[in-house]
Amino acid sequence: MNHFEYIDGVLHAEGVALPELAEKVGTPFFCYSTATLERHYKVYADAFSGLDATVCYAIKANSNQAVLKTLGKLGAGADVVSVGEMRRALRAGIAPGKVIFSGVGKAEDEMREALEADIAQINVESIPELIELNRVALDMGKKARIALRINPHVDAKTHEKIATGKAENKFGIDWTRAIEVYRDAAAMDGIEVTGIAMHIGSQLTDLTPFREAFTRLASLVEQLRAEGIEIRNLDLGGGLGIAYQGETPPLPDAYGQMVRETVSHLGCHITLEPGRLIAGNAGIMVSRVMYIKDGEAKRFVILDAAMNDLIRPTLYNAYHEIIPVEEQGENDKQATVDIVGPICETGDTFGKDRKLPDNLKAGDLVAVMSAGAYGAVMSSTYNTRALTPEVLVKGNEFAIVRPRQEIDELINMDQIPGWLD
Ligand code: LLP
Repeated sequence: MNHFEYIDGVLHAEGVALPELAEKVGTPFFCYSTATLERHYKVYADAFSGLDATVCYAIKANSNQAVLKTLGKLGAGADVVSVGEMRRALRAGIAPGKVIFSGVGKAEDEMREALEADIAQINVESIPELIELNRVALDMGKKARIALRINPHVDAKTHEKIATGKAENKFGIDWTRAIEVYRDAAAMDGIEVTGIAMHIGSQLTDLTPFREAFTRLASLVEQLRAEGIEIRNLDLGGGLGIAYQGETPPLPDAYGQMVRETVSHLGCHITLEPGRLIAGNAGIMVSRVMYIKDGEAKRFVILDAAMNDLIRPTLYNAYHEIIPVEEQGENDKQATVDIVGPICETGDTFGKDRKLPDNLKAGDLVAVMSAGAYGAVMSSTYNTRALTPEVLVKGNEFAIVRPRQEIDELINMDQIPGWLD
């Protein structure tokens, strides 16, 4: 459920009409709904009520400070994957004790800053990384609280670029070697083993792979306990999918129930790292039609947004619903169109063979739905296009939470070497 709805024929974000926002902010822009963010967080957190659990929002999905503050106020912790993300989480007021540092490779300076900040846990993904963290911690006179991220060799049955739990994926330590690596970790003076972590992929629309992975995780915890290695925290990662195109992913409640069934008997603290589920349908991208081009084979709707603003369709063939901001009348004629951006790449296409009003014209606005997660955070300045602004709505109010970048700001980052002066 989200709070982007037509009111009197005009698409609104909560109480704010999108054409008004477009006038004030220009296009394209990302627009987030506070009510949807809050609702998603609460529904998800409620699915674990009664369990000793912390929801550490995976801030890679949408790390705008205003989004983090909104969720932080509800009690969210943060799952971060770089020192930059860690700073974002801490600056938004999320307590270090609720921050988990994940990621395939952490640099020494990132480890130092994380240990200095005394965050809850660092998730280690390989033996060399473990050895390095031990060295850095000892050098600082500290003990690093760690979980090992275990790769359970489970197929998440999602897009190949976002599946992370198979043997051929670069993530985590193979589950078959987990016990021996835990033994090594437990013997290191700079390491305190606190947890075990898994994340098998993103946009999962079925509980079966989760169930398989968590069952494997539970049996590992029991084996570790038998060895005298105590695991206090189970980090189950994120990955629960959302509806982009009529999918029916399990509801958070069903996911919570499956978590209870698979791991609650272990009596551990549980950490969850949802990203997409919280932010995905809480955001849209609004763009203006620049031109309608009737080609021989197709009609093209050319937007002022491009693949640099929202790369998911290009990168993952991802489907995002695209709707007109002015609601189409029930009996109005529709046209079949390709909706594209202005960048010189065929991949700069938001949707193929989509239905839009036949009378859609230059200057009209469209909304690209479900763009709150992995939208703005993945944008780039390709083609020297300035980063797109972000707007947060709350009721009848809105705030620009990241202004449009100035093109000159971008160019000014380049430096001319002396020999070219
Ligand atoms: N925890 C870890 C360790 C992760 O790597 C991820 C996502 C999450 C949690 C959050 O997963 P979520 O709940 O959002 O599925 N850019 C891609 C998605 C990449 C996900 C990477 N890891 C996309 O646009 O679909």
